[in-house]
Amino acid sequence: MLVLRRLASPGANFVGVRGRSLSLVEFAGQWSSLERRQFQANMRVICDFVTEKEEQRLIREIEPHISRLPYESSHWDDAIHGYREVERKKWTPHSRAVLDRVSREACGGHVLPFVHVLDLAEVGMVKPHVDSTRFCGHTIAGISLLSDCVMRLKRATKDTVGHSADVLLPRRSLYIMSHLARYEFTHEILVGEQSRFREYPVKRSRRISIICRTEP
Ligand code: OGA
Ligand code: MN
Repeated sequence: MLVLRRLASPGANFVGVRGRSLSLVEFAGQWSSLERRQFQANMRVICDFVTEKEEQRLIREIEPHISRLPYESSHWDDAIHGYREVERKKWTPHSRAVLDRVSREACGGHVLPFVHVLDLAEVGMVKPHVDSTRFCGHTIAGISLLSDCVMRLKRATKDTVGHSADVLLPRRSLYIMSHLARYEFTHEILVGEQSRFREYPVKRSRRISIICRTEP
């Protein structure tokens, strides 16, 4: 079992998507303009954070370790389905250079030494949860490899009708989720057939994420 713990749910950039220029965030429900601005500052997506060559090298390094494991159908806290995962501390210099970039860019150079690698099968999904504050600090930064996907963040407050945001995470991008987005919203990775962004279906194939977290 990994050191990482997740809690069950408690209750702008512009890129071309098929040749069009779109924001990577789609808001739903009632947002105040202040919260929208805070959210955008606390949920950043950097497109093409890794090159195709870096992606290939990262996958080549991860694959022998992760492909030995079977995909599991249910996580111990029921947060994930169709997944396998490892934590790694030692990386080749090429990968270490990428991870150092993540650490500097997202976490001010302070990340937990173990990096979390999560492999979601094509049919896999991450259900709504907030990463445990016991095991993870204010920032979670993840590189998406092999596939685009949609991450949904839902306001996790008790008495209000929730509002949410769908964030398109393109292959080879880095997301940086911190503060408001990390603590006050659940996050989830949508299953393939529900993966839509604006009017577009998002093809979700096998996806590997490499996730760095700050210390609690
Ligand atoms: C998690 C998680 C998201 C991702 O493992 O806690 O939310 O990008 N993963 O894989
Ligand atoms: Mn999480």
